[in-house]
Amino acid sequence: MTHVQVTRRPSEHIFIPMATPSGFPNLTVLDHPLIQHKLTLLRDRHTTSRDFKALVSELAMLMGYEVTRDLPVEPVEIDTPLERMTGTVVQGKRVILVPILRAGLGMVDGLIQLIPSARVGHIGLVRDEQTHAAHRYYFKLPSLDDTSEFLILDPMLATGGSAVKACAALKEAGARRIRFLALVAAPAGVRLLGDAHPDVPVFVAGLDRELNENAYILPGLGDAGDRLFGTL
Ligand code: PRP
Ligand code: URA
Repeated sequence: MTHVQVTRRPSEHIFIPMATPSGFPNLTVLDHPLIQHKLTLLRDRHTTSRDFKALVSELAMLMGYEVTRDLPVEPVEIDTPLERMTGTVVQGKRVILVPILRAGLGMVDGLIQLIPSARVGHIGLVRDEQTHAAHRYYFKLPSLDDTSEFLILDPMLATGGSAVKACAALKEAGARRIRFLALVAAPAGVRLLGDAHPDVPVFVAGLDRELNENAYILPGLGDAGDRLFGTL
């Protein structure tokens, strides 16, 4: 992986991964300093459930800013106080946010603040504690067409099983343009998703080291759903 060296204090350095780690063609790591700062607070075991919620939302908003760089826009005629002009607006109704329940719900508000006209679908997936396989229990999308831009939201991309199922479900429903946003990913999950859906770009705040024997991400941030909703 390529690294950029950042000087913090004299004699102390940290390393922030560059945007596209080698070996992960489908992945962009969003290395903005504010994203990295908030991700570090989020990971900290001492962060309260209330702060955790706020940070997930803020991270989603900051990530959304980067991820929507190439959203389709259209010209619009407006009057300034002085004259008529052609402005530019995002074709916001094309955007459909799809949080993976439960934990993805925490990312919706941050993105809605950026794109208020975005519509929201939901997919409920839960991992089996023994096998770690994801099981679907809910699925509802707004009406869509070939131009709809889907953003799937889930704080954690661990084995990748949930992400692969979510993309498959959207495609089966007719989705053509999908991006996947996670706060923290494991290499195995990014690879599984890339192999199954190479057309889906993946954006994360952190690419972590590995999965443990329970398929939790290390160093990770623990159980995102439990920390968000206080079900620890
Ligand atoms: C977590 C997380 C992802 C999934 C990631 O959900 O929010 O959806 O695990 O794991 P995977 O990449 O191995 O599939 P969980 O099943 O714990 O449900 P919850 O959000 O309801 O807590
Ligand atoms: N789900 C989580 O919430 N955390 C992990 O580390 C893996 C799956």
